[in-house]
Amino acid sequence: MERWLTLLLLFPVLFFSTVTSAKGCRRPQLNANINVAVDQMFFDPGVELALSCKDGYTPISGPRTIVCTTSGAWTATKFLCKPKLCPYPDSPPNGDLYYEDTVYQSTINYTCQEGYILSGSSTSVCQANGTWSSPVPECIAMTCGLPPIPEFGMIVYNTRVRGNTTDYGITGTYKCLPPYALFGDATAECTTSGTWTKTPECRRVTCSLPENIDRGYMSTNDQRDFDYLETIKYGCTGDYIVEGSLQIVCQQDGTWSEKPSCKAPCKIGIDKGRILYKGNKMWIEDFKPNKVFHKDIVSVWCMNNARKCGYSVSTQCIDGRLMIPECYEEPSGINYTLNSGSLPSEIQQC
Ligand SMILES: *[C@@H]1O[C@H](CO)[C@@H](O)[C@H](O)[C@H]1NC(C)=O
Ligand SMILES: *[C@@H]1O[C@H](CO)[C@@H](O)[C@H](O)[C@H]1NC(C)=O
Ligand SMILES: *[C@@H]1O[C@H](CO)[C@@H](O)[C@H](O)[C@H]1NC(C)=O
Ligand SMILES: *[C@@H]1O[C@H](CO)[C@@H](O)[C@H](O)[C@H]1NC(C)=O
Repeated sequence: MERWLTLLLLFPVLFFSTVTSAKGCRRPQLNANINVAVDQMFFDPGVELALSCKDGYTPISGPRTIVCTTSGAWTATKFLCKPKLCPYPDSPPNGDLYYEDTVYQSTINYTCQEGYILSGSSTSVCQANGTWSSPVPECIAMTCGLPPIPEFGMIVYNTRVRGNTTDYGITGTYKCLPPYALFGDATAECTTSGTWTKTPECRRVTCSLPENIDRGYMSTNDQRDFDYLETIKYGCTGDYIVEGSLQIVCQQDGTWSEKPSCKAPCKIGIDKGRILYKGNKMWIEDFKPNKVFHKDIVSVWCMNNARKCGYSVSTQCIDGRLMIPECYEEPSGINYTLNSGSLPSEIQQC
């Protein structure tokens, strides 16, 4: 029994039929890839059978015939068939291919990159004669027609466009001719579906004469409609300072951009002491007129009583208000006039 098993393992392609009669053999049980020329189930001793490979397989070794012996067994053979190989496939330019093997009956799937359309067959099968069933397909670049141009608008392409078609991926920027404003997406792109992104609209936009600002004046008082992107300038009267943009612009939504405002000057609220203003250290009574402008910075002196030294503290004029730092102490009139050397601005600085 063991010897039989060994034989079976040694020659897996060929199973011996059990002996039923000394007079013949049963149809041999062969590997699925092997063809036997005849259909019958029983064979007489001495009958020779020709073996061949099925379609898509090639023979590799062993005698191609077996003979039915008087013992009822077939002669041994190492005849083997292996699947045919198709050549390694190429991927199409601008495309990809997917396959697991190149043996008979394997399949290749082809795809094209975004923006390309596949022309030909997207699959190919390795045939019995070792050729692929379909040639490599082509990936053809997607094109769009020329994009629609909005009325009162134009398009600027990112690359040169010739003729009546544009390639996938081409982009452009829509612009509206002044005074028209653009509504929608300014970017245009030839998409994978061969169409352009949505075309924006160019609409006329107007703003009416804006109101004046407190303590200020405007560059115009014309009671008319102002076009999109038209500007008006503002200024402030007297010592008032403009905060914000000097100029406003008529915006796409028909409103003006934010107006500036006029900010008041400040009086420095101390009577005795020195101040530091724009790099000049001066006595307050010499600072005439007592007026600094919005956003100006002024310093006064404070005393560090523990260390007996003086230090300056800065403060800022904000729209008419200038806070005097809390550490500031107004000296007595006597100390100020007779003993000014003892003031924090005059003694050793911390
Ligand atoms: C090819 O495509 C078919 C159908 O979509 C899929 O079943 C198969 O797995 C694909 N083969 C490979 C190798 O990607
Ligand atoms: C291979 O087989 C296919 C399908 O049977 C046939 O169309 C093709 O012409 C054959 N090619 C060659 C080179 O024999
Ligand atoms: C573009 O299209 C127009 C009308 O469809 C045609 O008259 C013109 O010859 C085309 N131009 C080019 C360069 O193809
Ligand atoms: C005057 O100066 C002295 C010393 O500099 C101080 O001790 C005193 O408190 C001051 N007086 C006033 C009223 O500021």
